[in-house]
Amino acid sequence: MDRVFSGVQPTGNLHLGNYLGAIRNWVKLQNDHDCIYCVVDLHAITAWQDPAELKAHTREVTAAFLAAGIDPSRSIIFNQSQVSAHAELAWILNCVARLGWLNRMTQFKEKAGKHREKASVGLYAYPNLMAADILAYKATHVPVGEDQKQHLELTRDIAQKFNNDYGVELFPMPKPLILGTATRVMSLRDGKKKMSKSDPSDMSRITMTDDADTIQKKLRKATSDSELLPGQEVLDETGDLPEETRQSRPEAYNLLGIYAALADKPLAEVLEEFAGAQFSLFKSALTDLAVASLGPMGSEMKRLSADPASVDAILSAGAEKAAAIAQPILAEAQDAVGLLRF
Ligand code: TYM
Repeated sequence: MDRVFSGVQPTGNLHLGNYLGAIRNWVKLQNDHDCIYCVVDLHAITAWQDPAELKAHTREVTAAFLAAGIDPSRSIIFNQSQVSAHAELAWILNCVARLGWLNRMTQFKEKAGKHREKASVGLYAYPNLMAADILAYKATHVPVGEDQKQHLELTRDIAQKFNNDYGVELFPMPKPLILGTATRVMSLRDGKKKMSKSDPSDMSRITMTDDADTIQKKLRKATSDSELLPGQEVLDETGDLPEETRQSRPEAYNLLGIYAALADKPLAEVLEEFAGAQFSLFKSALTDLAVASLGPMGSEMKRLSADPASVDAILSAGAEKAAAIAQPILAEAQDAVGLLRF
């Protein structure tokens, strides 16, 4: 069976982009795939994390997985640091990946910004650890938002070079699964910027624990424009939204995409429904939909946050199952490289 692997960093402020771009799609994949979902705490510490908050955020992301419908009896849920094969394989892959490849990673450039010299070595090598996450399970499919596409391409390059260098067919080439109408959810304040955990403005994102009043306030204040909403005529012959059209009204198309994703409808249907409508009317329909979808999940997350022992028990059982898969694959990699094992 195909094996799915994906992860989320426990860096706080889990938002609608994380939900629609990733977690929600993971739930559906459970039906016909063998799924492994990871809270990537080792990735989180590539930037400074307050230690007490890191533990709380690890439990919060786990609670979000559970509240969204990931079922620990069908899928493996664990935190990355508890399966040592990730770090061990990452070291081997550090020796396979080339500096030139990492130098091209746009996410490092964005995150390090002007202070490149002060960025941690971990932030630079981050994509190699991500490759290790995926390859340690020989995962075939990786459901992510659009921003992770380049990291997935690098993972394939690393897998290929490992196989070529050592003359083995050890690692499969994992495929990105970039699913749905909200693969790149944009900020509510600026339709040209990605919705992000690190945006200083809390008004730029809807988080998975926002209550109804907060969701309403954020959507009411979300940047919009003065035109009426477009209809299906903006789509091309294949039913896609051309990039220039999206860029001409980034905020409008962002909110329409969010609506379509939450309603689980094609964008064409949503455009038909709201063609010619005022923004205010659309925003109130979107508020109702967002509250109905996120409300029950937020409450479940709050309930789970009051019960950390049960969350920890799920992570700990998950780590045991994950290690049972990853350890023999790590051993195969060690053998291929020529590391003596006892
Ligand atoms: P992270 O924690 O930044 O984000 C988790 C998931 O959410 C998606 N996402 C978005 N999707 C749509 N719109 C947005 N605005 C948005 N923001 C975030 C991300 O694409 C991601 O799928 N490197 C990864 C974590 C990771 C991983 C892995 C993923 C580590 N190892 C192995 C897959 C496989 C990251 O930082 O995601």
